[in-house]
Order: sequence, then C-alpha cells, then structure tokens
Amino acid sequence: MPTTLAFDVYGTLIDTAGVTEKIEALIGEQAIAFSDRWREKQLEYSFRRGLMQDYQNFAICTRDALNHTDAFFKTTLSQAQKQNLLESYRVLPTFDDVAMSLQALKNNGIQMVAFSNGTADAIEKLLVTANIRDYFTDVVSTDEIQSFKPNPAVYEHLLKRTSSLAEDTWLISSNPFDVLGALSSGLKSAWVQRSSSALFDPWGIEPTSTISSLLELKEKI
Ligand code: LAC
Repeated sequence: MPTTLAFDVYGTLIDTAGVTEKIEALIGEQAIAFSDRWREKQLEYSFRRGLMQDYQNFAICTRDALNHTDAFFKTTLSQAQKQNLLESYRVLPTFDDVAMSLQALKNNGIQMVAFSNGTADAIEKLLVTANIRDYFTDVVSTDEIQSFKPNPAVYEHLLKRTSSLAEDTWLISSNPFDVLGALSSGLKSAWVQRSSSALFDPWGIEPTSTISSLLELKEKI
C-alpha cells in the first residue's frame, strides 16, 4: 500500500467545464475551442516560465493566457467579462466521482494531499467551496518553490512536504505531463483518463495504472 496519494487539482478533482458554459454565454459556439486554447496556453505559459526561471504565479499564467485567447479569437471581451471568467476559475465544482472515491479511501492510513500548480490560497478556496477540503491533510502548491509541474524539483518538494518516499507515493492526475513528471522522479502514478478520446503521450513510459474514474483507484494502487 502507498503511504501518500497526491491528487492533481484542475481537471482531476475539479471540473473546469463550468468555465466553458460561461464562455458560451459570452461568445456562443466557439466556446469549446476557446476554452481548450485557454487551457493549453495557461499550461504552456507555466512550462515556459518554469524553463525561463521567470516565475509568476498560476493565476497570472491563467490571466495572460485568457488575454492571448481573447486576441486569438478576436472576441474583444471587456475587462469586466474577463474578470468574471477569472473569478469563475476560483469556484468550480468537482467531477461526480470525487467525493465518493475520497470517502472510500479515507481512514485507510494513507495520507492524502492536494498537489497543484495553483497557489495554496486558490486551492484552499476551491476545495472548501467544493466541499472536499476535509479529505486532505494538506495542500501542497508548486508556488512554494516558485516553479511549476513537471519540474523535477516540484515532485521532490512534494516528497519533502509530505515526508514520503518516492516509491511509496502516487500522483493521481488526468494530465499526462504531470504523470510523466512524477514517474520520471521515481513516484508511482495513476493516469485518470477523463474522456475516451484523451491520449497519453507516446514517450515510451506508461502510467503505473490507468483508470477512467477515481472510483477505480482503491483497487488500482
Ligand atoms: C494543477 C494543474 C496542472 O492543478 O492542473 O496542478
């Protein structure tokens, strides 16, 4: 049995589809393409800032990515509309399987933490609003070392913060780059394939487990 489970937040515990609904109300049928590009740019900006060692927090990456996406789609959103979208990123629901699977894993003697690129404040607020904060003993943010996933330093930081050994620690994430980052740092990792069309990166490294719902996790670790 693992000693520690570290759950990625955006896209793994927290469903960002609610933002897409808000975008749809503003711009109509391009909403999914807009939302996808915004997410891709948000991550790209975090990767680039990590590589350049020019840290700005994840909320800044998210804001800059929104400005890029607005320009790309020529949607000319007002400052108030953009602010409203950014605010909705701070209060999002969980996926349906989250509370039930966390409940099933509780009291197993396994330490469960949330582990995210988001700042600790942002993640605390998200988890409290979604009513799942109490399942976690801690929130570990990459902001604490001013970097982002998948810098190996952030996985080392996770191990240090949770006093865990790599071989006893699992990262649970729907983000292939995060899973590969954890595996490359010697952790185990479950990839949550949140949709049947989601692809894992063909890098010759496979997740320790692949699951389509967090409800499978208990059997797969
Ligand atoms: C996170 C991003 C990667 O929560 O989804 O860390």
